[in-house]
Amino acid sequence: QTQPEAPSKNVGPEYRPTTQKPLATVSTALKHENVHVLPQTPQLIALLTMIRDKNTGRADFIFHSNRIIRLLVEEGLNHLPVLEHTITTPVGRTYAGVKFEGKICGVSIMRAGEAMEQGLRECCRSVRIGKILIQRDEETAKPKLYYDKLPEDIATRWVLLLDPMLATGGSALMAVQVLKDRGVPEDHILFLNLIASPEGAKNFAEQYPKVRVVTAFIDMGLNEKNYIVPGLGDFGDRFYTM
Ligand code: PRP
Ligand code: URA
Repeated sequence: QTQPEAPSKNVGPEYRPTTQKPLATVSTALKHENVHVLPQTPQLIALLTMIRDKNTGRADFIFHSNRIIRLLVEEGLNHLPVLEHTITTPVGRTYAGVKFEGKICGVSIMRAGEAMEQGLRECCRSVRIGKILIQRDEETAKPKLYYDKLPEDIATRWVLLLDPMLATGGSALMAVQVLKDRGVPEDHILFLNLIASPEGAKNFAEQYPKVRVVTAFIDMGLNEKNYIVPGLGDFGDRFYTM
């Protein structure tokens, strides 16, 4: 009997030892306990590779971003509390499981954050969604708050704050302040993010140690225009207009 061929060293979850990977494919380590980076699976790195590529067109950018967003939402939901819940299966056995507890809502930081709403709706049907319009000034990279529309009872909900890019952290910090002004406790906020810069993530995590951040990747840094590097360019432009 012939033995199955041994898998090639370049495939599978250990497709390359961390020490041999190009630096840009290894998420920067941060010591803040409230920052959670998704497991760095080959699938996730392949999806990130696709959306980082400047030659990836809009349709592929949307498709592959949506797959990462779905992973972020599923991981974010794992941080919400559950209650013990025992059910009976069709074959008459009991199963001691759990069920979700509490009310949630999504809040997207417009415009790019709106791209994450569909992924949230796919996991939480008819979830309420609030909006905060914050735009970075192109010259100074400082955020400006233009508008917010949030559920009336937001103070009683768990809030999933959505923005794919955390660069200087200015926009996310401003959005959390809006939520706090509406009475949302910091520890009821989960920030879901695709790519963070180390300085933005550190800045955010230190100013709001009780807000949990779930991100797919912490990049290498910021360039002179405060764009994330290696990054993916302008997420909003690539998702909506390019
Ligand atoms: C982008 C991004 C974040 C912000 C991140 O939005 O979606 O909101 O920049 O940068 P920061 O951490 O330095 O604040 P932008 O203001 O470019 O608007 P857009 O969503 O319309 O693209
Ligand atoms: N906003 C983006 O879309 N990309 C960056 O790199 C920084 C801010």
